[in-house]
Amino acid sequence: MSVMLRRLYTLPRATPLRTTTASAAIFSTPIKRHHHIQGVHRDTATNNANAKFAFNAEYQTKVDETIAKYPSNYKKAAIMPLLDLGQRQLGYCSIGVMNEVARILEVPPMRVYEVASFYTMFQRQPVGKVHIGVCTNLPCMLRGGYDVYNAAKGFIKDNNDDGFYSIEEVECSGACANGPVAEINNLYYEDLEPQSMVNVLKEVRAGTAKPGPVDNKRVSCEPYGEKTSLFGKEAFDVKTVTRTDI
Ligand code: FES
Repeated sequence: MSVMLRRLYTLPRATPLRTTTASAAIFSTPIKRHHHIQGVHRDTATNNANAKFAFNAEYQTKVDETIAKYPSNYKKAAIMPLLDLGQRQLGYCSIGVMNEVARILEVPPMRVYEVASFYTMFQRQPVGKVHIGVCTNLPCMLRGGYDVYNAAKGFIKDNNDDGFYSIEEVECSGACANGPVAEINNLYYEDLEPQSMVNVLKEVRAGTAKPGPVDNKRVSCEPYGEKTSLFGKEAFDVKTVTRTDI
């Protein structure tokens, strides 16, 4: 070992940043992550480079419509919508889907792999017919996101013999004002508590689930109870500064 390295190894360790026991318990304890993000692709019997994928007639029409939205010299901009279409048809974004998207858009497959592996909404391994993403990012976590996540996980553990459900932890779903939030097959269920999360999962299987704030707690993301702000007139009429055709 060189002198330089030996000096490095014998340097005193920095004092850990801790303030109070309570804050350390909340902010310094390593939390087990529950999402399934993989840095690499692992071949399986059904998800490998030899397992080809092709869009069926219905989805091919959507692919053509999507590509037509972009200038022909920028059709690679359609990578994400095409991956989404592939995922909707197959149920997940296999390596076959990615290769087919690369072939259609005439880009190196690596360009597509980079996109599919960066965005967690692309499922790169098979998921259940109903896939649930429970948000545990800060606003949702502060309102009980982990309790909601654990309630969903516990329910699925006991009610999933047929592989109907799959679940992951996500951050952030972009509906923080209504946290805790769960996305279920692209629909949002909001203002959740552990019991309402379980109820939603039962309703999803029964086909009666209604997205949005649960239990009629509110209509959208307005404050609970009485209005507390924005009592006056709007500062200006937004119609004067927006397009008339939208
Ligand atoms: S933190 Fe959960 S939706 Fe933003």
